Amino acid sequence: MAYFRLMQSDIERVLFDGPAIHKRLDELAAQITADYSDRELTVIAILTGTLMFMSDLLRRIPLPLKLNCLSVVSYHGKTETSGEILFKESSLPDVAGQDVLILDDILDTGQTLAAVREKLETAKPRSIRVCVLLSKRKQRARDVIADYIGFEIDNEFVVGYGLDYMERYRNLPYVGVLRKELLEQPNQ
Ligand code: IMP
Ligand code: MG
Repeated sequence: MAYFRLMQSDIERVLFDGPAIHKRLDELAAQITADYSDRELTVIAILTGTLMFMSDLLRRIPLPLKLNCLSVVSYHGKTETSGEILFKESSLPDVAGQDVLILDDILDTGQTLAAVREKLETAKPRSIRVCVLLSKRKQRARDVIADYIGFEIDNEFVVGYGLDYMERYRNLPYVGVLRKELLEQPNQ
């Protein structure tokens, strides 16, 4: 418990607690279920930040669907995407002719989702849509439209419910803003 309190004290404020997230996921899942009622979904979830979101959202969608997880490396412990998105080729699923729904934790600069979308499009899926838990209100490096958005947030660094800072805080059951002074010490 002492460690958990320690982790919580790194949070400046909670943006969305567990019940608020689950309520919003009910709505998102209902919308997705209605939109894909006559089709079979192929969900491509981008690891690791999407883990909690994926698990809670997909359990609310009572449709036949296929799930693939994709690992991409977009940045290395910093708070901004480097711009170079690396794929592990072996993890790229064949999505030819399928209705693809890409899941990501957060839309920030847009570089990750733009790269993933472009890469999947080369396999000629029938359709591609994007679903994110969070979308930052900011000027993006790449134009990406998210078809389903859990919450829009200001341009602040957030952690919890899957989202990390240097691989930590993913297990917090809520999304919160990390204290700014912690971001200024990248070697912690
Ligand atoms: P983008 O390519 O800049 O849109 O960034 C997408 C990825 O950067 C996300 O999938 C996250 O892993 C990470 N990221 C961006 N903003 C945040 C944040 O505020 N907290 C934690 N991770 C973030
Ligand atoms: Mg991350």
